[in-house]
Amino acid sequence: MEVALIYASMTGNTEEIAKIISDQVEKLALDVKTFHIEFDDIMALDLKDYDAILFGTYTWGDGDLPFEVEDFYDDLADEDLTGKVVGLFGSCDSYYPSYGAAIETMAQQFKAVGADVVEPLLKIELAPGPEDTERIQQFTQIFVTKVKK
Ligand SMILES: Cc1cc2nc3c(=O)[nH]c(=O)nc-3n(C[C@H](O)[C@H](O)[C@H](O)COP(=O)(O)O)c2cc1C
Repeated sequence: MEVALIYASMTGNTEEIAKIISDQVEKLALDVKTFHIEFDDIMALDLKDYDAILFGTYTWGDGDLPFEVEDFYDDLADEDLTGKVVGLFGSCDSYYPSYGAAIETMAQQFKAVGADVVEPLLKIELAPGPEDTERIQQFTQIFVTKVKK
């Protein structure tokens, strides 16, 4: 089974979380193909080719999606991902009132096209640290269990 892990990261925090999740998912015996949304060739149209999806994003502006995620978000509306398991995560900053709002925006869009979104969404304060290890592991475990069902 193959998982597409797609992420947006400007200063590297979401990328760090993505690497931890990817390592854990592979340890649980799923293949992971990773795409940086800004530099790698990945479109919403390609998601149907994968058994499950992990999507990571930071939040920008006042609770906004990063610019480089906007087209993907728009294109996602045209896909049918009924029953596909999707795990959403990202780095956030509690200095901002809309804490990790881009992760929620993406979750809503994935749900709107039928995806089975893993709850709770994984919001990490800035860079992942030892205090986040357990929550990341739980998230990954729930995701993999759902995928293998
Ligand atoms: C201009 C600006 C606006 C931001 N707005 C938000 C926000 O609304 N909500 C939030 O949780 N974080 C916000 N952030 C914080 C980033 O999401 C945070 O720095 C994150 O760690 C960046 O992730 P990255 O290292 O993967 O790029 C903002 C950061 C900047 C520079």
